[in-house]
Amino acid sequence: MALLEVEDLGVTFRGDREVRAVDGVSFTVDAGEVTGLVGESGCGKSVTSLALIGLLPKQNTRRVRVDGRALFDGLDLLRADTRTLRDIRGREIAMIFQDPLSSLNPVVPIGVQVAEVLVRHRGVSKAEAQRRAAQLLDRVGIPDPNRRLKEYPHQLSGGMRQRALIAMAVACRPRLLIADEPTTALDVTIQAQILELLKELVREDGTAMIMITHDLGVVAGLCDRVNVLYAGRVVESAARRPLFAEPVHPYTIGLLNSIPRLDAGQGARLTPIRGSVRDVLPWSQGCAFAPRCDRAVEECLAGPPEITGDPHSFRCVNPGVGVDLEEVR
Ligand SMILES: Nc1ncnc2c1ncn2[C@@H]1O[C@H](COP(=O)(O)OP(=O)(O)OP(=O)(O)O)[C@@H](O)[C@H]1O
Ligand SMILES: [Mg+2]
Repeated sequence: MALLEVEDLGVTFRGDREVRAVDGVSFTVDAGEVTGLVGESGCGKSVTSLALIGLLPKQNTRRVRVDGRALFDGLDLLRADTRTLRDIRGREIAMIFQDPLSSLNPVVPIGVQVAEVLVRHRGVSKAEAQRRAAQLLDRVGIPDPNRRLKEYPHQLSGGMRQRALIAMAVACRPRLLIADEPTTALDVTIQAQILELLKELVREDGTAMIMITHDLGVVAGLCDRVNVLYAGRVVESAARRPLFAEPVHPYTIGLLNSIPRLDAGQGARLTPIRGSVRDVLPWSQGCAFAPRCDRAVEECLAGPPEITGDPHSFRCVNPGVGVDLEEVR
């Protein structure tokens, strides 16, 4: 059975005008598996993850409507009460945010912040928590942990802060780790180290992970299964290998063509996807990607395409060249 089963998750923001940021997203995460959520800025990655753990601003008020189901080990997170959710967050499900500075308390030493997680969720004594905090910092590759424990977030480099956040996230050995663009703010060498660290931690602890990124390169190195999002919907979902070997949706193909490859011939050009996420069509009128799609046909504007295929599924009426539709279906 899946550890997390998200079914038809929808998030609507109601202000002056209604924004359907997430629109019927379904995916599963098996225990010990890394699942990727990939897509361009604004496609609904962060809103999806925040809705799952009940941390959307104004969630459960009239301003923000969340629908669907999200079964975590059988419990529907979208219907859990505040206390249950608070208990689950940090202990069973931990989250690593994109920007480490804004997720750490600037006026509290790193050691106290890491120890606090252990005291709150594991009920260990303060002294024991401090000792374990030092071990955790060591485990995430922060040198001289006993000195670093006494320092404040601003005294650490960006990479160190991200490591400290990861230490807090894995402190209670959560069953699910949600990492929202954990390396975007870092330079490439540090990025690679952090990804390597995450990979090692999930392997050693058997933790499942949702990896949120706009970077298919990150996905290639880390994810077992990939869900490609566009304008709030999953447009393609497959295991890593078939997704990279036989991408079907023109958007996925576009994303793949726009990343640099070491094996590309000399002079080979990158092909960016034309237009931007601003050029979306409301799903109610057809495929949201159609205005930017080179393969768009009349049928794309006839209505929203259904998702088809299992386990390699996609939402497209005119999928990529060279794909045997019968075989995919
Ligand atoms: N509180 C809010 N009120 C209204 N709209 C919101 C709110 N939060 C997010 N949105 C909208 O929801 C959509 C999805 O946002 P989200 O933050 O999930 O994007 P994302 O995929 O995480 O992008 P990025 O890669 O830039 O982080 C966007 O159009 C955004 O403007
Ligand atoms: Mg985001």
